Amino acid sequence: QRPVHRLLSNPGTVAADLRREEQPAGSAETDSEDRTPKKRFCEVQSERREQAQRTVLIHCPSKISEKKFLKYLSQHGPINNHFFYESFGLYAVVEFRQKESLASLQSVTRTPSLGAEAAIPFRSRYFSLKLKNPSNQTSGQPSVQCSNQSSPASRKVFDLLCCAENVDDQLYTLTKELQLTEENTRLRHLTCSLIEDVAAVYFPDCAVRPFGSSVNSFGKLGCDLDMFLDLDDIGKFSAHKASGNFLMEFQVKNVPSERIATQKILSVIGECLDHFGPGCVGVQKILNARCPLVRFSHQASGFQCDLTTNNRIALRSSELLYIYGALDARVRALVFTVRCWARAHSLTSSIPGAWITNFSLTIMVIFFLQRRSPPILPTLDYLKTLADAEDKCIIEGHNCTFVRDLNKIKPSGNTETLELLLKEFFEYFGNFAFNKNSINIRQGKEQNKPESSPLHIQNPFETSLNISKNVSQSQLQKFIDLARESAWILHQEDKGRPSPSSNQPWGLAALLLPSVANGVSLAKKKKPASERIKNLLESIKSGPENSTNTSGKR
Ligand code: CTP
Ligand code: MG
Repeated sequence: QRPVHRLLSNPGTVAADLRREEQPAGSAETDSEDRTPKKRFCEVQSERREQAQRTVLIHCPSKISEKKFLKYLSQHGPINNHFFYESFGLYAVVEFRQKESLASLQSVTRTPSLGAEAAIPFRSRYFSLKLKNPSNQTSGQPSVQCSNQSSPASRKVFDLLCCAENVDDQLYTLTKELQLTEENTRLRHLTCSLIEDVAAVYFPDCAVRPFGSSVNSFGKLGCDLDMFLDLDDIGKFSAHKASGNFLMEFQVKNVPSERIATQKILSVIGECLDHFGPGCVGVQKILNARCPLVRFSHQASGFQCDLTTNNRIALRSSELLYIYGALDARVRALVFTVRCWARAHSLTSSIPGAWITNFSLTIMVIFFLQRRSPPILPTLDYLKTLADAEDKCIIEGHNCTFVRDLNKIKPSGNTETLELLLKEFFEYFGNFAFNKNSINIRQGKEQNKPESSPLHIQNPFETSLNISKNVSQSQLQKFIDLARESAWILHQEDKGRPSPSSNQPWGLAALLLPSVANGVSLAKKKKPASERIKNLLESIKSGPENSTNTSGKR
């Protein structure tokens, strides 16, 4: 991490950093001046998956010598990378260079005998390291440097915003502070890989792939971990052409529908996680949801996990969002800001319900950026025209084709500032005809609403679905009121901005303060800044952000 003072003393540094160096972990480079080809989503994902398969998770004694620890593990082979983090104890994530090292480590690892309790002997890649002689090893040991896995304190972010050079810098600063780190991304892929080991007990060739905000480049530290149990490699769509006169098929159990198959598979995997998945707690099977899922906490990583299967389209929409996020640095900055603004004003919630979701907000930002002149983002239909034969993708009858190679998409000629875009975003949606129009990123223009839900956002691939069907009229109204008010605040500021040295919240910082729609009247807003900041801190108290919002899934 670069020292904060450098970020602040150098105007534009944050923006430049974010574009050049501090890419979200595992994402493509977004600097249009940079000529290195941008990686495809599937390349990034398969590299991450392979890396996770060579990685182990180790619960360590609280005081440990890093040097001795690495020396001990290196007996099993060279180590590529490691880091420590704290989460109810000290953990280490260790990536070996070769997969064989894992077998070597497992071969010298024993199943504990627990006295009165009994252990279920499942040989995973999640270990516990014990000191043979704790008393003489711990004394005087320096503690290791830990990487942070949770959101920075709201106060810190708020202070950074107040010190920024301009509104654009504020948006980039927010993104940089909240985005997933390299270590957190590794931990997410490792967690999927550990769950894959459990699922592989039943389905040896399965894959557990992260999707949603963990991989679409819009994830914030603390967001949930959406996992997709992929069984397609298990011969179902086997590419092998049968030679000769015969065709061999597995004898399988048939059930009346795909949905029932999904429920049965998730039910059994849920049982496995519950009964012998190390570190998996609070397993809930939510099988009657529109998209059946198993929800659990992975204690060691601290992730709230949602495991689904037969949900391939969601994986495609993650890839689409990844592409949009990589096309222009302003996209992620605006999405992070709108998400954070919505959270600060309780427009989104960690409890499923009539609230707008982060996914819907992201689509709204993309739609808005498609509507600029010239557009900042292309429509999905345009991305489809750039696709070649290899990109063709039909899932359950839905055409999910779009270009996978980001380098084929021309950067936008639009040079609007983030400050302007943020203001215009609030104005645009503060005045949007939600009562008659639907938001549609496929065509990049409003469509007539096909049904009467207050907010209609077409699912980009399953076009008959509304991704915000859950949103109530009153929640939509709250969004509109807040958007109008935020546009108003930004306009007022144009007339006279407090000097950055005055310690007054300004720009984005002012937008995150509690507002009219939260029951505070405009007149009362002239309260001392200290009180308003206190309210803000309460309203954006860190915690798993919108982590269990599955309203779209249920
Ligand atoms: N999804 C969908 N339709 C919905 C809800 C979700 O297609 N109505 C898909 C999207 O691809 C979304 C993913 O499921 O990205 C995960 O959903 P969710 O966890 O609710 O959203 P995230 O994008 O992961 O955002 P968050 O950070 O709030 O978890
Ligand atoms: Mg999610």
